[in-house]
Amino acid sequence: MSILSVNINKIATLRNARGGNIPNVLQAALDIESFGAQGITVHPRPDGRHIRYSDVFDLKDNITTELNVEGYPSDDFIQMVLEVKPHQVTLVPDAPEALTSNAGWKVNEHHLQLRSLVEILKKKGIRTSIFIDPDETQIKAAVDTGVDRVELYTENYAKQFLGDRNAAIAPYRKSAETAHQLGLGVNAGHDLSLENLAFFKQQVSPLQEVSIGHALICDALYFGLENTVKMYLHQLQK
Ligand code: PXP
Repeated sequence: MSILSVNINKIATLRNARGGNIPNVLQAALDIESFGAQGITVHPRPDGRHIRYSDVFDLKDNITTELNVEGYPSDDFIQMVLEVKPHQVTLVPDAPEALTSNAGWKVNEHHLQLRSLVEILKKKGIRTSIFIDPDETQIKAAVDTGVDRVELYTENYAKQFLGDRNAAIAPYRKSAETAHQLGLGVNAGHDLSLENLAFFKQQVSPLQEVSIGHALICDALYFGLENTVKMYLHQLQK
C-alpha cells in the first residue's frame, strides 16, 4: 500500500494572504485526515511564506496520522524538527529563495553533511528521507548516508507523462527497484496529479508514500476537499 500524504502548504499560503486564521490550517489537516489521507506533509521555508514553524508544532500535537516535515536542513530547521519530532523528516536541497523544490541532492557532494544529519535525526527516533532524482548513482550514494528512505523527485515524470509515459516512468521504476534491493524505502513527490498518479503507482513498486500538494489543492477548488482527497486515494488503489 502507498500512503497519501497531503502537502498543505497552499492552505497556509491562502491563510497568510489576509493575515488572519482563515482557512484554519490545523482544521484543514484534521479534515484531510478524516477524509482518508494517511499523512500530512509540510514544507516550511525560511521566510515563513506559507507554513510557519508554529504550525508544525500545532500539527504534531493534534494530527493522528503521519507528519512528514520537508525542508532544507538549516540550523533552525534541524532544531525545530528535533523539538517537534515528526514521524518523518525529508531533507531537501532547495535554496531559501526557491519558489518550490527544483532539484534533488547530489548525494556524494553532501555525503558528510547528510550522514551526520541522518544520524542526529535517527537518534531522536525520526524516520529520515532525502529528496533525489531517479538516478542509480544517487540511490547508491544514499545508502551510505544511513537514510531510511529516498523521495524520488517526480517533476520530470510529470512533464514527460503526456508525451511518452513509458519513457517517463522508466528511470523511476529502475530507481525504486534498486532502492528496494539496497534496503531503502521509496517515497515520491512533486507535480503528481489526478492524471499521472495511477500510472506512477502501478509502475513503481514498492512505493511507500506519495506527497501531493499543488495539484490536489487546485483540484479541491473544483471538486471540494473531501471529494478530491477521495479521488486521489482512488487513483492509488487502481
Ligand atoms: N516533495 C517536495 C520535496 C516538495 O518540495 C514538494 C513541494 O513543496 C512536494 C513534494 C509536493 O509537490 P506538489 O506541490 O507539486 O505536489
